[in-house]
Amino acid sequence: MHKTKIILDIDRIKKDFPIFSQKINGHSLVYLDSAATAQKPSLVIEETTRFYTEYNSNIHRGAHKLGELATIAYEEAHEKIAKFLGADIEEIIFTAGTTESLNLVAYSLVKTLKQGDKIVLTEMEHHSNIVPWQQLAKQYGVNIEYIKVKDFQLDIEHAKKIIDSKTKIVSVMHASNVLGTINPIKELAKITHDIGALFVVDAAHSAPNMKINVKDIDCDFLAFSGHKICGPTGIGVLYGKKHLLDKMSPFLYGGHMISEVTLKDTTFADVPSKFESGTSNIAGAIGLGYAIDYINKIGLENIHYYETELAKYAIETLKKIVGVKIYGPDENRTGVISFNISGIHAHDVATILDREGIAIRSGNHCAMPLMNALGINACNRASIYFYNTFDDIDNLVEAIKKAKKIFKVTNETSE
Ligand SMILES: Cc1ncc(COP(=O)(O)O)c(C=O)c1O
Repeated sequence: MHKTKIILDIDRIKKDFPIFSQKINGHSLVYLDSAATAQKPSLVIEETTRFYTEYNSNIHRGAHKLGELATIAYEEAHEKIAKFLGADIEEIIFTAGTTESLNLVAYSLVKTLKQGDKIVLTEMEHHSNIVPWQQLAKQYGVNIEYIKVKDFQLDIEHAKKIIDSKTKIVSVMHASNVLGTINPIKELAKITHDIGALFVVDAAHSAPNMKINVKDIDCDFLAFSGHKICGPTGIGVLYGKKHLLDKMSPFLYGGHMISEVTLKDTTFADVPSKFESGTSNIAGAIGLGYAIDYINKIGLENIHYYETELAKYAIETLKKIVGVKIYGPDENRTGVISFNISGIHAHDVATILDREGIAIRSGNHCAMPLMNALGINACNRASIYFYNTFDDIDNLVEAIKKAKKIFKVTNETSE
């Protein structure tokens, strides 16, 4: 028996997700790849379909009934996200995802910097919180420094040393998509603001499973993706403090984001429209709004608690397998568990697990600098969400034991 206070009715929750009613390679699906993308509940699928079947129309344009219904639903989605993050509605911009949100901030901010200014990132960032800054920094003669990772955590003493008077922007992930580590972003926000720089948060991996309040964190910008929080793909969010968004120049130019256009020049619309150029992903935004409703109904506190309990159990049981090395802390973490099995390449492990109907991810997880810091090229990643069960973890453990047998790995000399 698993010794945890079960607070969620997982059998009932699983029924909300049509994908779990099918067999994969003859097995019930054990989906442990939610950090890549989360599964979608019927509510999100049905409401996205209902938009297309009942009131498909462009927004903020048509004087007709359908246009009015679509505009109301899209604006309601803005409102739901604002409430979800503790923000004001004008501070919420719909983007294609975390990647686009971070590019938007980087493009709009880096061009205001001068040669010799500094941007501080961390060694554990996802490529989408490195590459945009790096490419723009080169263009504008701006330097980048990275906070080091020590024992799977950010080295805060190192952060204090490198966040100095030259620093203009600090951009950090809230929770690691590889290590599961939850970073002390409130403390980092304070260190950043004390020297007068701007603080950006990549919440791609925290928004799905932790209560976030942007005012409490006191971040200047925060980004997350809809598809990781049970919403559709191709929709994401950028939160920005209103007074900063007002000052920033647009990222994409075109329709909807303008106030007035003449053949000589253009004035721009107010935020958030200034940053939502062209026809938005209307269905995606509406679907994300319903995903947020669904998550709110279950409760982020419950999700975080349950996920943490599952992760604890998974780590305990995985550690008992000789040759398994886990990359991540035991405490203060999310449900992402990265590991390698001595003697078996990560891709081979993932392939064998797939035969058992178990979906995990293997590779560098879009975090090559972190892989370098860990001294590996790749690892396996099992990522847990609230629809997973203790049986899923047992199945994972049994399949890993099977993989070891197939590869005849005894690991007498395990790492
Ligand atoms: C921590 C983190 N940041 C950013 C991203 C990029 O998100 P998206 O691909 O949805 O734009 C991901 C996606 O894997 C992620 O895990």
